[in-house]
Amino acid sequence: MRGHRVIPQQVIANKRDGGALTPGQMRGLLNAYLDGTVGDDQMAAFLMAVYFNGLGVEELDVMVDVMLRSGDVLDRGMTEGPRVDKHSTGGVGDKVSIVLAPLAAELGMIVPMMSGRSLGHTGGTLDKLESIPGLRTRIPVDRFNRVLASVGCAMIGQTDEIAPLDRRLYALRDVTATVPSLPLITASIMSKKLAEGLDGLVLDVKVGRGAFLTRIAESRELARAMVDVGARRGLAVTAVLSAMDRPLGRTVGNALEVREAVECLSGGGPGDLRELSVELVAEMGLSGKVFNSPDEGRRRAEQALDGGGALERFLRMVAAQGGSLDLSRTGFGLPRAPLTRAVAARRDGIVSGINPRALGYGVIPMGGGRTRQDQDVDPRVGFELQVRTGDAVSAGDVLAVIHGAEDDDLVIGTRVVADAVTVAEAVESDPLPLVIERAAAD
Ligand code: URA
Repeated sequence: MRGHRVIPQQVIANKRDGGALTPGQMRGLLNAYLDGTVGDDQMAAFLMAVYFNGLGVEELDVMVDVMLRSGDVLDRGMTEGPRVDKHSTGGVGDKVSIVLAPLAAELGMIVPMMSGRSLGHTGGTLDKLESIPGLRTRIPVDRFNRVLASVGCAMIGQTDEIAPLDRRLYALRDVTATVPSLPLITASIMSKKLAEGLDGLVLDVKVGRGAFLTRIAESRELARAMVDVGARRGLAVTAVLSAMDRPLGRTVGNALEVREAVECLSGGGPGDLRELSVELVAEMGLSGKVFNSPDEGRRRAEQALDGGGALERFLRMVAAQGGSLDLSRTGFGLPRAPLTRAVAARRDGIVSGINPRALGYGVIPMGGGRTRQDQDVDPRVGFELQVRTGDAVSAGDVLAVIHGAEDDDLVIGTRVVADAVTVAEAVESDPLPLVIERAAAD
């Protein structure tokens, strides 16, 4: 199509050579990709050039703008109350969103949550949610708005209606090794969150070997970039840096993670999942002006988890999106793998480390993640850790239970656990604090 007035290969070469693109060049290239004049081949080359050379502030703002405007921007619709959301930069075992959306809704916030599928070694909230029988995450915007109005929270995937350019770039980045890029992560997250028409946003920026950007300096820079994009667009953004040097919680794998999230919503579950959920919802409530202090937020969050309100809200959301769970059944009616195998420690010692990246990648060949975008995932497979870093173990103690669909999964899973969960004389390095620091606009 004529009219975009960019020559794609020239724009790509400019970025490849470290040049700064004009707003017209950025807009032209991205719009040409949207209308099909530029294909995946040229866009992949552009993404790789950005991966190596980054984007300046003006280029980043244009990218966010084009992605945001590639679809509709939601309005308040029939909802009343502060619209607040949380998004994570991606981790392993990170099922916080499933706890947080209903918890925040129970505390008076409106949570229009748009999440992603698995990306690289990290799991995706959508894939996790879809392990709930019948639950639909691809729903039209009017139905999404109705669920929001009646329940206070709804969780959907990237659609053709809201930030569709993010959906396409996200999928392309996943298969072209261009995920771990500060400006590309910033544009991806901020474009879809700005399209939600929010009053406040909390970002959970992961730090450590299971995060996309592993070093704390990079995570700080990413947090600052996203807070600044929000500030330039009038959205109050708070970023919380949290630990991803180990998996969050005890499970990795879609249905296993939903089960753990339901346990947390029922007042139980692992301590780190509960603590991070409480901390993040307190931040959400502060940004939506629902709480007067973080302590008030934490107290009310704990009451909602222990008193059953958050769980009830979650079950209403699940039902409104077509899903069903049966909490009276073992495993809550979630799909369960036919095979399990316990992997034991081969020696006495201390659990010296649990590598989240190894577990995240390990789920993929068992069918729990993708190597191509068009693949389905098997919700049943994954790992259930029985130990934490620093635990003393004896030879024969179970380190993790593998859930597999086939014998091969158990073979693969055994190798993965042996590689990921190490037993030695002492811990490899001091674990990061779960919540490291926060950043907000000045
Ligand atoms: N989450 C997103 O939504 N996008 C990214 O690029 C990374 C994590």
